[in-house]
Amino acid sequence: SNIIKIGLLGCGTVGTGVIKVLEENLDEITPRVGAQLTISRILVRDMKKKRQLPGNAVITDNIDDILNDPEIKIVIELLGGIHPAREYMLKALQAGKNVVTANKDVVAQFGKDMFAAAEKSNVDFMFEASVGGGIPIITPLKQCLTANKLTEVIGIVNGTTNYMLTKMSEENANYDEVLKAAQEKGYAEADPTADVEGLDAARKTAILASIAFNSRVGLDKVYTEGITKITPEDIAYAKELGYTIKLLSVSRDGEKGIDVRVHPALLPQSHPLAAVRNEFNAIFVKGNAVGETMFYGRGAGQLPTASAVLADVIDVARDIVKGHFGKIRCTCYEHKTFCPIEK
Ligand code: NDP
Ligand code: HSE
Repeated sequence: SNIIKIGLLGCGTVGTGVIKVLEENLDEITPRVGAQLTISRILVRDMKKKRQLPGNAVITDNIDDILNDPEIKIVIELLGGIHPAREYMLKALQAGKNVVTANKDVVAQFGKDMFAAAEKSNVDFMFEASVGGGIPIITPLKQCLTANKLTEVIGIVNGTTNYMLTKMSEENANYDEVLKAAQEKGYAEADPTADVEGLDAARKTAILASIAFNSRVGLDKVYTEGITKITPEDIAYAKELGYTIKLLSVSRDGEKGIDVRVHPALLPQSHPLAAVRNEFNAIFVKGNAVGETMFYGRGAGQLPTASAVLADVIDVARDIVKGHFGKIRCTCYEHKTFCPIEK
């Protein structure tokens, strides 16, 4: 039968989630793809750590084992950070492998290099999980809303800080303790400074604005302020006055050009974004044809993020099954894009 082999880079919170969801839903996924997805090799740092791995998977600490395996058609990158994730993804693309990632650090700063390498090798580079965890937002922006002129993308895009602010406001929780809780739940980045200083949200904002406004919005263009200066007193006063403090991501394309920023904001308690609690995220998108749309769901966490990662994997795998990849463009009616027959 048809098997599509996958190389998994990283087996932490999200990597383990991908293994779990694929295992649990394999009977649903296989007919949807038309082939069986199999994680055949897994890259980790610490070979001695105890982990639950899929039956036939081989674990390695050497990336070349994955890059040099011609049977691996899809590489899922879930290492996090720029180095060595960026180099590994680039090499995988250059080796003709499709790449799926949740890595906003690399997408925000080096997305352009990734797309160029993918185009050159005629493969895909997919990153749905890099923004909004399990919420579909990249694909809606790229495809479903692409007939619009989009003017606003506003929302809560960091699960860790939203979880912290919720607990600090509703339970008077202590900042350090609630940050620790977010880390234990698997929401935070390996270095949570990126969450609390707003950098993670800024990366996501750069990605969202680039896609929504069809232009390259660099991370350096995003005004960035996190939640580290928010005191329990700020939260209490806000509450007393009927407001909630939220870390907002704001992207606008107006007469004065593109404005992108991340900062804490006071929202009236009646505002729809004020009701977004814990690790949930929500993103409003405004377009000139569709009007206002809103995307809502779990913005961080093992299984929601794995859901988005696997959606990309399934998308790519379907194309592989249909033979939409390869260097020879087919002129036959049946295979309008890339013909599996002529390959
Ligand atoms: P973790 O820190 O839990 O896992 C990272 C994994 O990568 C570990 O298995 C680690 O190995 C491995 N690893 C790291 N560096 C190397 C290296 N140099 N060589 C080999 N293996 C390495 O991270 P997460 O799973 O939380 O996050 C993964 C990615 O997903 C990040 O880009 C993150 O931003 C993104 N993301 C995370 C979400 C979440 O809710 N956690 C949500 C959306 C996106 P070892 O196990 O041996 O230490
Ligand atoms: N650390 C990130 C967050 C993970 O808390 O939102 C999801 O991208």
